Formats: sequence, structure tokens, C-alpha cells
Amino acid sequence: MSARAVVLAAGKGTRMKSARPKVLHELCGRPMLWWVLEALRAAGADDVIVVTNPELDPLLAPRGVRTVIQPEQLGTGHAVKIALDALEPRDGRLVVAYGDMPLVDAAIFADVQAAVDPRAGTALALVTARMPLPSSFGRIVRSASASSGRASAVERIVEAKDCTPDQLALDEMNAGIYAFDEAALRDVIPRIGRDNAQGEYYLTDAVELLIAAGRRVAPVPVADYRSVLGVNDRVELANASAILNRRLCEEHMRAGVTIVDPAATYLEPGLVIERDVTILPGSAVGGASRIGEGTTIGMNCRIADSVIGARCTVRESVITSTTIGDDVRIGPFAHLRDGNTIGDRVRIGNFVELKKSEIGDDVKANHLAYIGDATVGARTNYGAGAITCNYDGTNKNRTQIGADVFVGTNNSLVAPIALGDGAMTGAGAVVIRDVPAGDKVVGNPARFSRPASWRTSPIRAGRGSNGPIQVPPGASSCTVPGAGT
Ligand code: UD1
Ligand code: MG
Repeated sequence: MSARAVVLAAGKGTRMKSARPKVLHELCGRPMLWWVLEALRAAGADDVIVVTNPELDPLLAPRGVRTVIQPEQLGTGHAVKIALDALEPRDGRLVVAYGDMPLVDAAIFADVQAAVDPRAGTALALVTARMPLPSSFGRIVRSASASSGRASAVERIVEAKDCTPDQLALDEMNAGIYAFDEAALRDVIPRIGRDNAQGEYYLTDAVELLIAAGRRVAPVPVADYRSVLGVNDRVELANASAILNRRLCEEHMRAGVTIVDPAATYLEPGLVIERDVTILPGSAVGGASRIGEGTTIGMNCRIADSVIGARCTVRESVITSTTIGDDVRIGPFAHLRDGNTIGDRVRIGNFVELKKSEIGDDVKANHLAYIGDATVGARTNYGAGAITCNYDGTNKNRTQIGADVFVGTNNSLVAPIALGDGAMTGAGAVVIRDVPAGDKVVGNPARFSRPASWRTSPIRAGRGSNGPIQVPPGASSCTVPGAGT
């Protein structure tokens, strides 16, 4: 269905108590406003304008959103007038929605549009929801003539702040989603006044004005009031986030993903998660990520903008902008960041950090290592504590490690440097020159700090005799004997 829509987002959002505009607060990795625009797009709205304020506008315009500025926030009726002034008049339907209702879905927009029929005299369809009281939503006031058993007609909407006690007891609410006959809306909008508790131009007053003009107003009830909850403060933000997250989890669970605890698993829209993936609690998967069949993620992992292959295990690790092959084991406590490509059957163990590196198939880096700006060939064993010294204080330099290399423990590979296929480095080596294929380097050995004649302590000689360490004549026990001699 092709349609024109206005989204109101100029309100100050003072109840958020934030420097950030309300509609840019995020839920499941997307700004509040994104969810509304996405639902509209999915419902076929192809001509959408967002009413913004002077602070919000510069943040939205670069995101490709069409906007119009409401310089002063005089109410929802005034905001719609600003939008109408910016739009070329057109016959047909106009959807109006608020930018602070991220739980709305495409079906609601489709239903409300379908309920407007300018030719049949219906100038406005509005979504209503039965809701637990108390509520700050506007109340739907219907005519008293319900005796025939048929639903009585909507007469008007009264804002909570303007309600009598009897009206406050009504539990049918104005969701804030409307489809107007645009021409009829243009007729009544200039007649909306601001004689109310908040001194604002209420869009909701259009109901009474349209009825007075002989037009019909059709209510469109939603089955679940939670899909139209507004977000006005951070408590409502957290509640709405939990609902959206639950929806995302359920979508994946129904498609064959095991999510052990959806309340402790944080997903974003647009993820591809293949069947028989298991996600354990405390894990967040976001951005443009893809997880392959049979992989297990968690507990406590953060994965963003990454592709992980099939049958992998990722435990207690952080992975961003990284592509990983099949049958790989990561973690616990690994950090893979900023663009790595990792082959199949690789093992990245605890306290290993990878940055901008390509890792070949069957590589093992099991413990306490840093691999940055490096290429590591297939089957190489990267020893515990080995570090690529990729930064010389000015530039980032590359380390090139071939296939079947053995990098010893606690090595410092001072880049730029290359280790050829099959090369080997000894424990603790500080490698500052290239090592040709098949060659072996050892270096930086620990030297004895005392002359050989002093080295025969009873401990060493007797291995467990526990005799006293021999101190040379004239030396105090705390000086280093032989130093400088
Ligand atoms: C509004 C409705 C209420 C409904 C509720 C549903 C009115 C008068 N009231 O109340 O009936 O039950 O939403 O959530 O419409 N905005 C502007 N310019 C303004 C004022 C507001 O763009 O001058 C925008 C806000 O940014 C917000 C939306 O309009 O996105 C609604 O405004 P808000 O102040 O949140 O209205 P509610 O009190 O929630
Ligand atoms: Mg609101």
C-alpha cells in the first residue's frame, strides 16, 4: 500500500532527563525513531516526513530522513500543521504517528490505513487500546448509546490531564496512530485551539471537529496494548527494549535457534542466525552479524558486525568486525577486534587479542598473546605470551608469519618482520630480523648474574638439601655479587 506519513518527533522529551533527543535513545541497537520508520516502511509508506526540533534536525538530516522543523513545541496539532504546510496537498490517506512508540508494527499501520475511506465519509481511523489503569494516555470517549449491543461511536479524545475522574476511569486509550483523509485534516487543523490543561494545540481535538463537520471517525482496536506503548522516560525505555528484544529472540527461536534465557540475551534486528545455534545467557549479538549452523555462543559474549562459521564455540569473548571459519574455538576471554579473518579449525584461547590479522587454518594461539596487523599461515603454533610489536611509536607495521611456524613462548616479534614457512623461534626470543623458511632463531637468553665459581650453592648442588646459599667473602647478601667485575 503506497501512503504518505507524518511522524512527530519534535517534543522535548523532558521526562527522559537527557542531553540526547528522546527519539534517538536506542532500543536493541536502533534509535527509537528507526523502529517507527521501519514499521511504516514495511507497511508501504513511501513518502514520510518527520517533524523535528532545531536540536534534533541536524542529527537526522545526515541519516537521509526527510524532515521539517517545528521551531517551538506548541503541541501535536501544531506539529501536524507544520508538516502539512511543508507538503504539497494531495488527495488520499495521510498516516500520522508519534516517534516515541517503537513497539508499533507494520500490521497496525496497514490496518489503520485500510479503515479510512474518504468516499464513504470516514475521515479518520484511529488506533485504540484497552490498557491497565492508571495510564497517562488520552481517553477514548464514546457516545452513551450502547444499549443496542453494538459498539458505540467515538465522540472525542480527552487527554489524561484534562479528564474528569469519570473519564480517567475509562480504559480505552488513544494509541496515537491515525490515518486521515488528508483533505479533511487540512480543513480542521487550523480550527484546533489551545484551551486545555497544557495550553497546547492537541491533534486529538481533530476528532470532535471532524464529527461536527459530519464526518465519521473509525476506531481500530489493537489486540495487545503493549504494541502501542509510548516511551516517555527511561523506565518505559527499558520496558520497551525488553519487549522488542523478546520479539527478536522469539523470531530466532521459532527459526531453530536455542536461546537459553531470552531475558539475558541481547539481539538486534537484521541478524542471520542459522539453525541449531545455541546462545547462552549474558550474550549480545548485534550489527550485521551472521552465526553459522550448530555454533554455540556464550556465556557472556559480545559479538558485533562479525561472521562466525558453523560448529564453532565462542565462550566469554568479545568479537567485533571479524570473519571466522568453521569448527573454530574461541575463548574463554579472547578479544578479536577491528577486522580479522580467521580460517577453519583455529583455536584462539584465553587472554588472546587479535587485531586486523589474517589467521590461516588450524592455527593455535592458546594463551596470553597479541596478534596485531599480522598474517599467520596455516598450522602455525603461536606460543603463550608471544606479542607482535606492531607499533613503533609512529607507524603500525605488519608481521608476516608463514605456515607451520613455531613461535616460542614470550616472543617479541618486532615488526615489520617476516618468519618464513617452518621457521622456529626459541622461548623468550626478541626477533628483530626476518627468519628464513625452515630456520631457527633463539635469543635474549637469561644470563647468570654471578661468576661460575659462586654458582655451586648447596641448594643447586644438593638439589633439596636446603643448605644455606653461599655468600662470597666480603659481599653483603643483598648486593649482586660479581656485578661489574
Ligand atoms: C499523546 C496523545 C495522547 C496519546 C499518547 C500516546 C496528544 C495531544 N496526545 O500524548 O492522546 O494517548 O500520545 O502515546 O496528541 N510532539 C511534537 N511537537 C509537539 C509536541 C509533541 O512533535 O509540539 C511529538 C513528540 O515528540 C512525541 C509525540 O509528538 O513523539 C507525542 O507527544 P507527547 O508529548 O509524547 O504526547 P503524549 O503526552 O504522550
Ligand atoms: Mg508520548
